[in-house]
Amino acid sequence: MFAWLCENPIGPEALTWKELPTPAPGAGEVRVAIKAASLNFPDLLIVQNKYQMKPPLPFVPGSEFAGLVDAVGPGVTHLKPGDPVAAFGGTGGFATHAIVRAALVLPLPPGFALDDAAAFVLTYGTTHHALLDRAALKSGETVLVLGAAGGVGTAAIQIAKAVGARVIAAASSDAKCALCRELGADATINYTSGNIRDEIKALTDGKGPDVVYDPVGGDLAEPVFRSIAWRGRYLVVGFAQGGIPALPLNLALLKGASIVGVFWGEFARREPQANAAALAQLAQWYAQGLVKPVIDRRLPMTALMQAYERMGSRLVQGKLVLTND
Ligand SMILES: NC(=O)c1ccc[n+]([C@@H]2O[C@H](COP(=O)([O-])OP(=O)(O)OC[C@H]3O[C@@H](n4cnc5c(N)ncnc54)[C@H](OP(=O)(O)O)[C@@H]3O)[C@@H](O)[C@H]2O)c1
Repeated sequence: MFAWLCENPIGPEALTWKELPTPAPGAGEVRVAIKAASLNFPDLLIVQNKYQMKPPLPFVPGSEFAGLVDAVGPGVTHLKPGDPVAAFGGTGGFATHAIVRAALVLPLPPGFALDDAAAFVLTYGTTHHALLDRAALKSGETVLVLGAAGGVGTAAIQIAKAVGARVIAAASSDAKCALCRELGADATINYTSGNIRDEIKALTDGKGPDVVYDPVGGDLAEPVFRSIAWRGRYLVVGFAQGGIPALPLNLALLKGASIVGVFWGEFARREPQANAAALAQLAQWYAQGLVKPVIDRRLPMTALMQAYERMGSRLVQGKLVLTND
């Protein structure tokens, strides 16, 4: 097998594409021949030693992928070689093969494209948990999505529309805003060219959004939190801008608003049944055409550096997918 190896977590430039012995699955494990893996922001943080999870060195980055089971270990009965699966393992995906715990593997229903499956579990799982579980978003409410053309942002537009919410999508360029409208956003805000508070006010008749979905953080958080509606829910999803914002708590009091943390990986670990139910609903929505990953572009697995550069320079629209052909 071949894999991108992280021996020194100082950034993507230190990764090397290496041939390694193809491992055999142990008890309760399967080996997956990876067909596609997607790049998520945490994959960038983890090779810079900036992610909350710090795997022992060396490790293979790549948090989610899809492919075909090509060997099963002792005790695995629900999977067999040839089965199409998606996996979220936290690491291991930027390779030709990976060993995964069978319990973490998601058998794919017929008709689920492997490229889509590789770009699905983390972004849609996080966003379903955030909007429906943590924020209890209801039909007819307004949700403001920041970084709306990114991976979790595009999923947020689709999931909010699937439950009948009104979506205001905010992003850093007119091209990104145009993509958000194509995906069903009812209105957009380019936050690099206007005053975000004035625009939110104008688009919500002065009321503000009921729910804010924030994967960006930094200097956007405070002005947006100041604009939230009465009983609003502010979802803390991530800090792609780098800075971790601090919010004056009097604003939460004045609006009767909640600041709600979202940590999908921990939710999946602590509440596996609730997570499985959410993923089953998402798979159903995929089959009905209500949600579908937006693929920015497909690159060969060996072009991982190019993918990291695109993500680091804020160019990705939707998800980048790396493929083994
Ligand atoms: N809480 C959880 O469970 C969970 C799960 C998955 C991901 N996340 C977090 O969610 C965030 C987004 O992840 P993603 O995979 O969707 O990433 P992504 O596709 O790269 O999207 C991030 C968006 O953030 C914006 N951004 C602002 N400043 C940026 C900067 N300096 N560099 C890069 N992007 C910047 C960009 O939109 P504009 O250019 O439009 O501003 C970009 O589209 C990350 O912080 C990630 O760690 C959290």
